[in-house]
Amino acid sequence: MKKVITYGTYDLLHHGHVALLKRAKALGDYLIVGVTADGFDKERGKLNVSQSLAERIENVRQTGIADQIIVEEYEGQKISDIQKYGVDIFTVGSDWVGKFDYLSEYCQVVYLPRTRGISSTVLRASAKPALKVGILGVDSMAERFFSEAKVVSGMEVTSVYDADPQKVTKFCRGKGGLERLESEQDIYAGCDAVFINTPADEHYQQILAAIEAGCHVICNPPMFLSREEANECYQKADEAGLVLFEGIKTLYFPAFEHMLLLVKSGLIGTVKDIDVSCSQIPEHMEQVVKNKYLGSLYDWGTTALLPIIKIYEAECLDSQLINFQTEDFSYFTRGLLRYQNATASIKVGKGMKVEGELIITGTKGYLYVPAPWWKTEYFEIRSEDLRNVKKYFYSYEGDGLRYMIYSFLNAINDPERGLQHTRAEVLRATAILEKFHQGGFTRIEM
Ligand code: CTP
Repeated sequence: MKKVITYGTYDLLHHGHVALLKRAKALGDYLIVGVTADGFDKERGKLNVSQSLAERIENVRQTGIADQIIVEEYEGQKISDIQKYGVDIFTVGSDWVGKFDYLSEYCQVVYLPRTRGISSTVLRASAKPALKVGILGVDSMAERFFSEAKVVSGMEVTSVYDADPQKVTKFCRGKGGLERLESEQDIYAGCDAVFINTPADEHYQQILAAIEAGCHVICNPPMFLSREEANECYQKADEAGLVLFEGIKTLYFPAFEHMLLLVKSGLIGTVKDIDVSCSQIPEHMEQVVKNKYLGSLYDWGTTALLPIIKIYEAECLDSQLINFQTEDFSYFTRGLLRYQNATASIKVGKGMKVEGELIITGTKGYLYVPAPWWKTEYFEIRSEDLRNVKKYFYSYEGDGLRYMIYSFLNAINDPERGLQHTRAEVLRATAILEKFHQGGFTRIEM
């Protein structure tokens, strides 16, 4: 019996898929179809698949063409499937020509003609008009947001505003179709969602104005500097049925998600301490120091607090913050946080550099993420026996921002799913920033 295997996402099954499956079946006697798992699609940067794995499997099953359906969960699984199932022919559509030649070591590789004029991407795009997103505040982050948003189907960055017209002119160069608007208000009025990319002290008013205009919000962290303001904004967003999303990109990196799962599964025992550092020496420090809201804890605090907030899932009982500063710009903040039976320490720098690593200490071992941990790709679990180090690697696509943008879009399209970064978690981090913002730290002159 000649066994054939093929793989795909099979989202919104269309006649191109059916034709491919028929051609694949005709190559042999028994057809195995591998349907990609949700997590695997996400890891390989295929975002915005509309249907769940169960629905996609059902799509394939209903064609009646497949003799066996399996789930493709990880990079490299194809070789093991070919060996495990005794496959004679591997096949996919001609859009993949050359990509799977390496499998010819294990079986015959056949690229079948792809049906023209149809794809899941086209169907997704026609199913719903793209969400119009405006960018408020132009800098390198806005550049990255713009280019990463392009790979997330279902949304489009349509307009931009910044108080500095020169910056907007530069930003719009080479970005045909992007509309430059005259005011913040125009952004809220003309878009379905806004990316608020301004210093932290401007967020509260901008969020309120966006909600007032019926705009969903994705906001650079910290979204809020006070819990009172946060609660007010959340309440107004709820009343208006809008999403308020704090855009901490690290949270959505595949490696960070896996790391949290491993810690929660008890692999390093009970977590007793978390030590986390982040810093940056910006290119134009002389410009940065002009705005205190770009200083150490304002800029990095939310990211540094992320693993602590996510792992401890509890209120911080007590915190001590020490801040190095000149006038009111903070260059470096060191914080010691006490939780119920656990501690954490943070070091954040702007214009000062520290090793940007993350160490999560448990009763059975510790998890170590090398610098820069906030762009996590790799981490290790270490224990008493240093020869016994477990290494984990999960790559990310592009700049990594796409996972966060994708999650924002999902939060809008599927409100039932709930946010990955909950309101309670945002408020816990805000409490610490609020203390800092109100001067609750020991000051050391630079
Ligand atoms: N396929 C095909 N003809 C099409 C679309 C897909 O022959 N018009 C084939 C692909 O080459 C692949 C299989 O169907 O072998 C599953 O493809 P999948 O990536 O799930 O479908 P697409 O429609 O290409 O999805 P997307 O637009 O999301 O990339």
